[in-house]
Amino acid sequence: MLTLNPLKNSSWRAALALLLAASVASAAAVAQESSQKGFGSDWQSWKADNSVSDVASLQRGARDFLNYCNACHSLKYIRYSRIGEDLKIPSSLVQQFLVPPDKKATDYIVSSMPQEEAVNWFGKDPPDLSLIVEQLGTDYIYQYLTTFYVDPSRPTGTNNLALATTAMPDVVSQLEGLKRAVFKTVDMNGTKEQVFDHFEPVVPGSLTREQYDDFARDIVNFLDYASEPVQVHRHSLGVWVVLFLLVFTWLAWMLKKEYWKDVH
Ligand code: HEC
Repeated sequence: MLTLNPLKNSSWRAALALLLAASVASAAAVAQESSQKGFGSDWQSWKADNSVSDVASLQRGARDFLNYCNACHSLKYIRYSRIGEDLKIPSSLVQQFLVPPDKKATDYIVSSMPQEEAVNWFGKDPPDLSLIVEQLGTDYIYQYLTTFYVDPSRPTGTNNLALATTAMPDVVSQLEGLKRAVFKTVDMNGTKEQVFDHFEPVVPGSLTREQYDDFARDIVNFLDYASEPVQVHRHSLGVWVVLFLLVFTWLAWMLKKEYWKDVH
């Protein structure tokens, strides 16, 4: 018959309770540590972590680029139709959702903002983004899109950690919401300097922080593709090459077995 030793039983419970208490305490310590670390304090190590073989992400990135960025920025080496072919978007949908009413699918993706007007408005011409990933890298652009903060001293009302005093307005603040940058004073060999410490949310956006991260990642992914459209094909070709090699190795091995069968 199975009897439970009451002493053992209670000591088990005590041990379990202790273990639970310890894990809650350590979870709380981790949570406190991460909140102390502060949202954004490690922004320079943020990675885009995008993948040009993720076609769904590229499709979302294309849609979002055309909605949120193309008013000012061009991709002058790419046609709408090319995006459709590369990203597997049927031409009827390309026409319906990507090509503006005054353009054709075979047109290059050129912003309709006149250059002189842009310089008048922003003090700078928004650069063509075709090769921006080659120039600045995916991580930088991801950091640029995620480190806008409120700064009433700027003409646009916002500033940016990746590109201080940027002329670009925070065009995605509706989605991301607004955040404030908290700076701390540090002593740099006798001179006091203001150094960024962390962000504090001010007004929530329509997306959560994770959703906005995905939004930024999709656009970076699309710009990565745009900087070298052929890489999408190279990735899918790579899969076939590996498959071919596997099948070929298997065939060679079968052949070897066949040849050596009579020798043994
Ligand atoms: C209202 C116009 C406008 C819109 C819309 C806009 N930008 Fe910009 N963008 C600018 C201007 C102006 C600059 C030049 C900033 C500077 O050099 O200070 C710029 C610069 C950039 C740069 C280069 C930054 C650097 O370090 O040189 C990138 C990357 C960029 N924008 C990405 C985007 C993306 C992605 C979107 C869409 C989510 C977007 N922009 C929407 C106006 C705009």
